[in-house]
Amino acid sequence: MTETPAPSLPAAAAQRLSRWLTHLGVSPAAFDDTVGWLTPLWRVHHLQARIVDKRAETPTAVTLVLQVGGAFPLPRAGQHLVVGVTLQGVRHRRAYSPRVLPQRPGCIAITVQRQRGGRVSTHLHDAARVGDVLDVEAPAGDFVLPQPVPPAVLLIAGGSGITPFMAMLGELRRRAPATQVTLLYFARSERDRILARELTELSQRWTSFTYLPLEGSAPPPDTPPPPRTEAAVTAPRPHIAPRRLTTALLQERAPHWARTLAFCCGPATLMAAARGIWAEAGIARQLRLEAFTAPEPSGRPDTRHHVTLRRPSQPVGTQDFHAPAHLTLLAAGEQAGLQLPHGCRQGICHQCSCRLQRGSVQDLLSGQRVDGQGQAIRLCVSAALSDLALESLN
Ligand SMILES: Cc1cc2nc3c(=O)[nH]c(=O)nc-3n(C[C@H](O)[C@H](O)[C@H](O)COP(=O)(O)OP(=O)(O)OC[C@H]3O[C@@H](n4cnc5c(N)ncnc54)[C@H](O)[C@@H]3O)c2cc1C
Ligand code: FES
Repeated sequence: MTETPAPSLPAAAAQRLSRWLTHLGVSPAAFDDTVGWLTPLWRVHHLQARIVDKRAETPTAVTLVLQVGGAFPLPRAGQHLVVGVTLQGVRHRRAYSPRVLPQRPGCIAITVQRQRGGRVSTHLHDAARVGDVLDVEAPAGDFVLPQPVPPAVLLIAGGSGITPFMAMLGELRRRAPATQVTLLYFARSERDRILARELTELSQRWTSFTYLPLEGSAPPPDTPPPPRTEAAVTAPRPHIAPRRLTTALLQERAPHWARTLAFCCGPATLMAAARGIWAEAGIARQLRLEAFTAPEPSGRPDTRHHVTLRRPSQPVGTQDFHAPAHLTLLAAGEQAGLQLPHGCRQGICHQCSCRLQRGSVQDLLSGQRVDGQGQAIRLCVSAALSDLALESLN
């Protein structure tokens, strides 16, 4: 399903107009509300995007083409943007890795993998329609190619972790086509491989690009049989061998791996394997990682800690909740019905930052214990180790 994009008010003109009106007492929010009434894409502060195309990539992955306004900064390849949706009165924000579409100016694409029980991915799959408007935030993140681009790059993707690499491949092909690029792409099966046809075609047209599709593991037993999509019928079927990421596999398929800048994005097991291999080789600094999910706390669900959260910038003032030790503080607060500021849920954007005034937490990214002395912690990657007193920084 496709919709023709609407024309966009030049961003600079809209921003100038907003600044000028601010002097006359019109707030940025009021400006946005007024121009947003004409078209949401003219907003310059609270950004929105319109879904202009939606297509299935695999039985569990869908691509949304979003038309963005002129005020939306184009993402650097590999960055993420935060999409906000309100479901049953509760605001949810999730990060997705966009790619620019040179053939569709003013549009970007995100590809969303359905997560079982996942609130936002299920909504974007089942309920989001062409013509709908989504809240979006300016792209962010440093999972990007260095400048200048090195002569060779190794990309290791698993499942939906291919999305930042689709953006990087597009960028490399356009701006540095001589770069030797190797992509190892693990998927449960060929039918689960997102954008497989595009990747195969790209490897046929671009001689510096080596595409190595690999089967990571068997699909789970309750995976539905694949519908015969156009992609499944027409895509050439490269040879696929069931493999896991090991030093031996790298030696065999990407022999220059230890001398190449590498990027890895995918499930926790793949990332852990990559981290271990690069650390053992003493070249951990040559590996860049991006996780889509935060590590899970290892505490027991029946261990609960009392949390007092002061929110100076909110009318609610102070809120209390209980945090079971098997949940992050963000998840525990949300489970208790609180609407807490957040963005990536992954320790990247700092929008959930709080000051730890009293008590102890575990930082799930570093594994370190933090004892409260007013340090900033991120609720999405922290688990309570004791009763806590927190102060929200946002
Ligand atoms: C920087 C960044 C970029 C991202 N880019 C993309 C992208 O391009 N495409 C994409 O599909 N997703 C991407 N994600 C993941 C995305 O932000 C959401 O986490 C995902 O869509 C699930 O959200 P949900 O609301 O459906 O699930 P939730 O309601 O938050 O979670 C429901 C359940 O699913 C599990 N779960 C959630 N996410 C995952 C996951 N990724 N793998 C395994 N289990 C999971 C949770 O543990 C939970 O049990 C990215 C995340 C980050 C941090
Ligand atoms: S939500 Fe982004 S750092 Fe916590």
